[in-house]
Order: sequence, then C-alpha cells, then structure tokens
Amino acid sequence: MSPAFLTSCGQLIKRWDKQQAAASKGYWELDVWSEFRSLTGDVISKTAFESCHEEGKRVFQLQEELSFLALEACKAIYVPGIRCHEYDPIRKLSLLFSPLILKPYIHGSPVRHSRYIPTRRNRRITYLNNEIKSMLREQIRRKEAAIEKGASVKDDLLGFLLHFTRRSRRHHHRRQCRLFYFIGHEPTAVTLTWAMVILSMHHDWQQKAREEVLQVFGSNPPDVHNLSHLKIVTMLLNEVQRLYPPVGSLYRHVRQRVKLGGITIPRGVDVVAPVIYIHHDREIWGEDADEFNPERFSQGISKAGKEHNAFFPFGWGPRGCLGQHFAMMEAKIALTMILQHFSSELSPSYAHAPYIGVTLQPQYGAQIIFRGL
Ligand code: HEM
Repeated sequence: MSPAFLTSCGQLIKRWDKQQAAASKGYWELDVWSEFRSLTGDVISKTAFESCHEEGKRVFQLQEELSFLALEACKAIYVPGIRCHEYDPIRKLSLLFSPLILKPYIHGSPVRHSRYIPTRRNRRITYLNNEIKSMLREQIRRKEAAIEKGASVKDDLLGFLLHFTRRSRRHHHRRQCRLFYFIGHEPTAVTLTWAMVILSMHHDWQQKAREEVLQVFGSNPPDVHNLSHLKIVTMLLNEVQRLYPPVGSLYRHVRQRVKLGGITIPRGVDVVAPVIYIHHDREIWGEDADEFNPERFSQGISKAGKEHNAFFPFGWGPRGCLGQHFAMMEAKIALTMILQHFSSELSPSYAHAPYIGVTLQPQYGAQIIFRGL
C-alpha cells in the first residue's frame, strides 16, 4: 500500500507548492484539518476501495454529515416513551460517542430516542443513511460482477472481502466498508492535524524532526523500509497521540459476568476506558502530564509512563485497532514530506479548542502559516 501513500502525499505537496508559488508575500495560510481529511480520505479510498475512488469521496461527504447530525441527535432532548431498537445505529453511535447518553444506560434504564419523529434532522439522517447504503450496495455489485467476468481480485479491501466471504453476507460487507470509510481515515487526519499544530508551536522540535528526516531521506521521497529510522518523528507522534488521542474513550458492553483483576462486573454493564484522562494522569506521567515532551518516549512506549499499559491510542487486545501500522506509516510519510518542503507556524487566526466529536478535533479548524524551504 505504500505506493498509494506516496502518491497521495506527493499530490498534497504539489498542491501546496502551487499555493506557495502563488503566494505574493512568500507565505500562505491553510486549514490543515480539512487538508488532512482530504489526504487520508484519498489514501483509504485508493487502498481499500481502489476501483471506486471517486465515489469514495462522496461517501465521505455523506458520512461526515451523518456523524455530525447523529452527534447532534445524541445531545438532543429525547421524547419520553419512545424506545430505540437494540441495533439502532443512532443508539450505537450515542453509546460510542456520548458519555451523556451512556450514563443512563449504565444505571440500568433503557436509552430512549426521538429518532422516529419526522423532524427535518431525522429525515435528513434517514436520507443520508439510505444514500450511503445504496452507494455501497452499488460498489459491491459492480465489483462482484467484475470478479465474475474474470477480473482479478485487486489488492484492495473490497476485493478481499468479496473473495473470501459468502455472497449471502452482503449486508455484512456493506457494514465493513462503511466502518473502513470512517475509521480508516478520520483518526489519522486528527493525528496529523495535532502534529502540525504542535510542531508549529514548538519550533525546536520542528527543527529536530526536520534534521532527522533530511538525515535519513535527504530530499528524496521516503522509502518505507527506512521509516523505522525516524526516532524523533516517532517520539513526536506518540506524544501527540498521548496529548490528543483521536479516539477519546473506549467502550465495552459486558455480555456475561466477568472478573477483571479484583473487580466482578455483572452482565449488562457498559464499561468505559477514558483514554484521554488516563493519557493526562499525573500519577502516571508526572507533573508535566499536560505538557508536550516527546523525550518521555525516548526509551520506547513501555518506559514512557509509570504504568506500561497507560498509553493506548489504538486500544489494545483482540479488538485493538487493525490499522495501527497503516496509520503510523501514513502519518510518518506525510510528515516527512511536509518537513522536507515547508516550515510552519501557527496563524494568529488559530484558536486552540480541542473538541470531542466523534474524534478529538480542532473545533475551529487548524490554521497554519507555511513557507517554502
Ligand atoms: C491514528 C489513527 C488511528 C487511531 C488512533 C485508531 C484508533 C482505533 C481505536 C481506539 C480502535 C478501537 C479499539 C478498541 O475498541 O479497543 C480502533 C479500531 C479499529 N480501527 Fe483504528 N485507528 C486509527 C486508524 C485506523 C486505520 C487507518 C484503519 C484502517 C485502515 C483502522 C481500522 C480499524 C478497525 C477495522 C477497527 C476495529 C477493530 C475491531 O473491532 O476488531 N484504524 N482504531
């Protein structure tokens, strides 16, 4: 998949080069939050859905609007008496993303939702849901037809899904594609965005990272086999993900009574692992827990804090992130290429406002001033 990373990152650099050439003052401003969403969206479309790249962009737009509306709906006041179905996607979203909604569920009362009332928002949610489903259905149908006619199963996720699973599980394919469209790009965009913000605040670390990148790759495009030589960049990305974990909390629903350490948890309880709080816990990270200090990762992740499991931006265990290496490789390639070409500083119009939406995002965007090197 590395050629896709290099191509998409190369296109981003070319686009920025053009903006630099057009910048009369020698510098120009960009909202990197939207730039990186488009970069990571491009990468996941190419690698997971290679054959349907253009439609992928449309699915992203629809998904983005849908998650925004669903989050709004989670925060809205519900009309008592209207229960939601166990597999209601909105309730699932609410369980995933809104501690406010989670609370009543923990205390045993069913979560209710006014999603059946045909308000303008609910109608739009239904429309977006159906539109995404039908686009994915069509992508799957076309891919199946192509494979039946003898087309090779390409190295993309959709091809593999169809090749290795039964046709009767189409709805399952659709769900998997949908998950990948979302989870396969936004958290990486978030990581890159906060990394750029932090590097634009801490010029000493920006310089250190650039020196390392130039030492390892010179001005050549990064060779994926040598990414492991990027020690400073790795420390930096770890520290960014400690301070700004893209996924702020992890949730588990207890299906049967279980004993965890010294605690017995009854069936039916939802358990929350608040990643963001644990990543900022002074008892684990020391008095500078809220400060940016990549040095703490200089001896590796296990020695960074007092508890060796306290750093878990990608979750852990059998349901941990499947795309961890994919994401880190993508982030390292993008950062390397940016550092090779441009220097950056925060724009006066940037307002630091991390916001827990579906991921931990910059509420008002991330405006950065760039200069060519
Ligand atoms: C910086 C980027 C990323 C972060 C921080 C991240 C984080 C996470 C987290 C916290 C989970 C849930 C783990 C749990 O519940 O214990 C997860 C699950 C998952 N991630 Fe990622 N992720 C990232 C990028 C990606 C990418 C690029 C892909 C795909 C290419 C991906 C695919 C998945 C999948 C498929 C799951 C579900 C695994 C399962 O339920 O078995 N992720 N990710």
